[in-house]
Amino acid sequence: MKLFEPLDINGCVIPNRILVPAMVTRLSGEDGLVNRDITDRYVRYAEGGAGLIVVEAMAVHGAKSGPLLRISDDSYLPGLSEMVRRVHDTSDSKIVPQIIHFLKIARSGWRQTIDMLDEADIDAIVGHFGAAAARAREAGFDGAELHSAHAYTLSSFISRRNPRNDDYGGSLENRLRLIGRVMNEVRRQAGDDFAVGVRIDAEEFIRGGYTVEEGKLIALRHAQLGCDYISLSVGGKFEDAEHHPGKVLHAYSGYSGERAMPDAWHPDMTHVDLAAETKSFINAKGFQTPIVTAGKIWKPEDAEQILEEGRADVLGIARQMLADPDWPNKIKRGESERIVVCDFCNICKILDGEHRPVNCYLWPKGAVQAPPDAPGEGPTWGPGGGDLQVAFQGGEARLTWSKAEGSVAGYDVYRAADDGAMSVIEASKSRRWNDRSAMAGMRYHYYVRAYDPAGRPSPPSNTVLLEPELPNYGAR
Ligand SMILES: Cc1cc2nc3c(=O)[nH]c(=O)nc-3n(C[C@H](O)[C@H](O)[C@H](O)COP(=O)(O)O)c2cc1C
Repeated sequence: MKLFEPLDINGCVIPNRILVPAMVTRLSGEDGLVNRDITDRYVRYAEGGAGLIVVEAMAVHGAKSGPLLRISDDSYLPGLSEMVRRVHDTSDSKIVPQIIHFLKIARSGWRQTIDMLDEADIDAIVGHFGAAAARAREAGFDGAELHSAHAYTLSSFISRRNPRNDDYGGSLENRLRLIGRVMNEVRRQAGDDFAVGVRIDAEEFIRGGYTVEEGKLIALRHAQLGCDYISLSVGGKFEDAEHHPGKVLHAYSGYSGERAMPDAWHPDMTHVDLAAETKSFINAKGFQTPIVTAGKIWKPEDAEQILEEGRADVLGIARQMLADPDWPNKIKRGESERIVVCDFCNICKILDGEHRPVNCYLWPKGAVQAPPDAPGEGPTWGPGGGDLQVAFQGGEARLTWSKAEGSVAGYDVYRAADDGAMSVIEASKSRRWNDRSAMAGMRYHYYVRAYDPAGRPSPPSNTVLLEPELPNYGAR
């Protein structure tokens, strides 16, 4: 499988094309120090066979924030080095930190914007990124990733909504000036032989923000600057964030935030088209910089097809890897059926927004990490084979089933529309689920599988058929 082909990223050889994009864990205190739980989270991805693990955004500067990791001075080195050591001792997964600079925000809704920064502030940002990248190298990381996406400082300069009217704003060239200076400084301090990736938005998804038309030029500039990989995200901006009185703005609370972490009702592989367009554009310009795409990629066959069709070079699998860090190993062993499938409920996103420890709703209650992988059989059904029943009532398909036998962590509901393939549509902890997207004129088949904490599934339950009738809208 292409998924398991290694890739050399400026000397950092990742064993496969599976990248865990940065995901804030909120497991650190405000001290920003690495602790045991944080290290265990990243070791868990290494155990599961990830190719490249991008550690959650960590601050390059000393500004106050909620619980967030830091790499802003040497006092953070022991914890970071220990995390790297444990990951390297676990598997051949590679590990890089995502390094971030952000501006001040207040509970009142006020936020510092980039037009409030003077030349000295900008020089300091450049220096902070260079020093943080050098520190990442000292800690033993395999590279570093500059966070130049979403609502944060670097991205705000690149944004089409950049409000500055000096050499750092207005034209596209001016908007790209800061990242140019930052990359120069990072290379000066961390060296040319250190893998330096960048995360940028392929599209901003805000009014007046840039679309892929400029996004691909922005990616080209990063390739010209010598970035070793370009990880594409989208949106996640403050401009459309919702402000709740007394709370700091959460960059993922508006529509652009919804695009950044697409919910269950968005299509799978939401942003692959943007990656494909960006990749073919920079390739045509003579750059082979690997392109990473992320956004609801969870089916092994989809992941493989993206690579086979050359639409991206590496796959960013965030929430699916949180749900089941053993995703790579299970695919490699031909045990895709045992994957605990992410249902994109976004509880993890909500926890992040509330600065509470990020975990997965599908894990056993109270678990701080995903349960360990384990061989053996999953739950079974009693004599009724699950007794799955479906009724179309109140405009929705109401499904109920009986309890599976054995250790049950939850149930996956599978659905096929018309003659399509069966695919997981929901993960449920209870024994009922209402499908609110079923519609007359369509034919649906459903079955349910129970799974245990390690993801081991039961056989499918009995299959039920539903052909909803058109509602009666009354006499004309
Ligand atoms: C809880 C949580 C925290 C995140 N933190 C970061 C972050 O620190 N930096 C970043 O670039 N993206 C962050 N993201 C976005 C993810 O990296 C990823 O781009 C997004 O979830 C879409 O990929 P997915 O559909 O595979 O989950 C976060 C996402 C989640 C759910």
